[in-house]
Amino acid sequence: MKIAIVTGSTGLIGSESVEFFSKKFDKVIGIDNNLREWFFGNDASTLWNKKRLIQLLPNYKHYDVDIRDKDDVEKIFNKYGSDVELIIHTAAQPSHDWAAKNPLADFTVNANGTLVLLEMCRTYCADAVFIFTSTNKVYGDSPNKLPLVEHEERWEIDPKHPYYENGIDESMSIDQSKHSLFGASKVAADIIVQEYGRYFKMKTGVFRGGCLTGPKHSGTRLHGFLSYLMKCTISGEHYTVLGYKGKQVRDNIHSYDLVNMFWHFYNNPLQGEVYNVGGSRFSNCSVLEAIKLGEEISGKKLNYSINGTNRIGDHIWWISDISKFKTHYPDWDFRYDLPGILTQIHDYLIAHKPDE
Ligand SMILES: NC(=O)c1ccc[n+]([C@@H]2O[C@H](COP(=O)([O-])OP(=O)(O)OC[C@H]3O[C@@H](n4cnc5c(N)ncnc54)[C@H](O)[C@@H]3O)[C@@H](O)[C@H]2O)c1
Repeated sequence: MKIAIVTGSTGLIGSESVEFFSKKFDKVIGIDNNLREWFFGNDASTLWNKKRLIQLLPNYKHYDVDIRDKDDVEKIFNKYGSDVELIIHTAAQPSHDWAAKNPLADFTVNANGTLVLLEMCRTYCADAVFIFTSTNKVYGDSPNKLPLVEHEERWEIDPKHPYYENGIDESMSIDQSKHSLFGASKVAADIIVQEYGRYFKMKTGVFRGGCLTGPKHSGTRLHGFLSYLMKCTISGEHYTVLGYKGKQVRDNIHSYDLVNMFWHFYNNPLQGEVYNVGGSRFSNCSVLEAIKLGEEISGKKLNYSINGTNRIGDHIWWISDISKFKTHYPDWDFRYDLPGILTQIHDYLIAHKPDE
């Protein structure tokens, strides 16, 4: 029996992973206790997605377990043992702002939870591939010190800078910058996942995401930029842009394209490897550009204002250089560009009521 375990299985990346790997594995085990609703409120609940996966996939088994609870997590790993060939760990507290409200909960979910899973993997299925969804926030606010140039609708990096062509690569320091509490808890997890690869020779991969997006995001004010933006455009709800004149740039990757990267890594895994992953130069936008595109796609005007205060440690310009991943896995490529992603989010939101 070939089994994959996915944590955060009813979130954006987790649910995409469950669907993808249910076609490749005999069984997919999901771990998610809908903590997203506790973090962000009813709007962010992922119960609709849990219901959908259980109905859709006969080989999906769901556990309402908290990854911090070692005893409960151990029961799952003990049950499936060495049949587990892949672990995709996406469960997390994912917001900067929320982390500052409750640093203890943020750190224990992001850092301790990751350690629990690594230890269970080492104990019960040490040959499995362990994939961790890290974040570009591990670089703290170092990207804000790059030479940036203001354009009419976006910030850009100086064309003479080496990062101009492809974006920021993995050689940027993750040390001595302001990360936000969230960035710091993810750094702890990121390093420990690398360490289990280097020290214990386990097949661990760290994927440092830019903006991860897609129609299955339970987008909310504090997390899920494109999904929440489109929700507001459709519903007429007011949207507040936080700082940088709305010209901050994000690269956006569809959850399918990221999960397809996991598949390529799984088939040819390395130990403790780190990749920047995102839409790269292929798919990126400023908030102002995203608003414009969202309005074109929906045929509606977004009711928004721009607040002068940015989030602490928030990036002004981020584009992931994904060349390292593409060099290691040349057969992988993007399926979705930015207009394609936003159109999909729009169509999904129109077709599904929030409580479905
Ligand atoms: N979405 C992004 O733009 C983005 C960017 C960079 C990195 N990431 C990282 O990618 C991963 C996945 O992001 P996402 O957008 O799919 O997040 P998400 O919030 O949609 O999904 C995470 C899921 O984990 C669950 N969860 C949280 N804490 C848990 C716990 N203690 N026990 C069990 N389940 C728990 C939540 O209920 C949620 O369903 C996260 O690690 C996040 O930090 C996301």
